Amino acid sequence: MMKFHISTFGCQMNEHDTEKIIWVLEKIGYYQTENRHEADLIIFNTCAVRKTAEDRVFGQLGELQELKRRNPDLIIAVCGCLMQKDDIREYFLSKHKHIDIVFGTNNIHKLPQLIDRHLRTNEKIVDVIEDTREISENIDSNRKYSYKAFVDIMYGCNNFCSYCIVPYTRGRERSREPESIVREVENLAKTGCKEVTLLGQNVNSYGKTLDNKISFSQLLSLLNDIDGIERIRFMTSHPKDFSDDLIDAYKNLEKLCNHLHLPVQSGSNRILKLMNRQYTKEQYLEKIYKIRELIPEITITTDIIVGFPGETEQDFLETLDLVEKAKFDSAFTFLYSIREGTNAAKMSDQVPDDVKHDRFQRLLDTLYPIGLESNRKLLNSIQKVLVEETSKTDDNILSGRTESNKLVHFLGNKNLIGEIVNIKINNVKTFTLEGEIV
Ligand code: 5AD
Ligand code: SF4
Repeated sequence: MMKFHISTFGCQMNEHDTEKIIWVLEKIGYYQTENRHEADLIIFNTCAVRKTAEDRVFGQLGELQELKRRNPDLIIAVCGCLMQKDDIREYFLSKHKHIDIVFGTNNIHKLPQLIDRHLRTNEKIVDVIEDTREISENIDSNRKYSYKAFVDIMYGCNNFCSYCIVPYTRGRERSREPESIVREVENLAKTGCKEVTLLGQNVNSYGKTLDNKISFSQLLSLLNDIDGIERIRFMTSHPKDFSDDLIDAYKNLEKLCNHLHLPVQSGSNRILKLMNRQYTKEQYLEKIYKIRELIPEITITTDIIVGFPGETEQDFLETLDLVEKAKFDSAFTFLYSIREGTNAAKMSDQVPDDVKHDRFQRLLDTLYPIGLESNRKLLNSIQKVLVEETSKTDDNILSGRTESNKLVHFLGNKNLIGEIVNIKINNVKTFTLEGEIV
């Protein structure tokens, strides 16, 4: 009985790729183990978005050297975004000679062949497809949860934001056929799945690469008709492509959850231009005001980068001003990280680390009270919550998410996991709500 252990770094796309890798491996008779030490095959599904993620993978791979020395039959495989970049891949392979198999984000379906080739020849196998129009539909996923699932609707990105490595690792944008997506979601519904999260780097441009053009809101409408599915979410939108028909979708499609993640990155028009984001602070805010007016209960979250090359104090104050005006419910905040090969990496005016850290803290100090204020509005309200898991320390404490994607803790029996229950909100904190089943 062969066992594998997989570690996943990075975003939901990678988490979902891991579910596919697990499916592929179980199909050829491998079993998953949580214990790296008893594995015959160890896989690292890597992330390239920031240097910190790269360093973490690099360090953990180093630790495997000892395991490999003790068990020379152990197979070590590395995949994901880091391996899509020639320079990074070559560096990893030169420093970590114990890596046996490297594969990319586009050829997960080939993993059984690659393992087989390695076992037969004992050679190092490197199989990475740099860019492709091809979409492999004959691959399923072993999903982590039965009641909620990620569903890819498109791959790659054409936007080339100047700081971002994704267009170089995930290739050009391409959409899945709507029929395949609908079939996948129908099958999920049949097996009891209630919530789907549609994944793509820029879901607003879904369908543009297909022969029979279809818009993202049309796709949402098709999925809204599937019996059994109760909630539809998506990640991620690009503000430049966020249009009125999506606001209409929020109004008209009862299953579309009232949460919008709309990464802004910066509030300074000068920095937004250098980032190649193709919108201004004013245009962004106009979209936010409009959607808040039409869908008042919507939760809006964002991504913000501090310390982009050339960011001045004045630029940063523009970001704080935008945060106050947009009243984000919460935000993922990042220190700018140089990614070789991107345009921003060539910019000379890098912001010193201490200035970046100082701005980062001031950004959090601005975001947190706004998030708390927004949560306060939910006090005493009744929220529909999809129960997701028990607390790590106490089986009687459950957690789940409201339609607007806020995390709620409450007392209850763990057989409620996967059900949607009504919770009265009794207490609110910056990041979580507390309540009771009613
Ligand atoms: N440095 C810091 N943050 C980055 N992101 C993408 N590239 C970088 C980088 N080089 C952030 C963006 C994006 C999120 C997924 O990661 O905010 O929206
Ligand atoms: Fe990266 Fe910009 Fe594409 Fe998002 S839209 S993946 S930030 S290049």
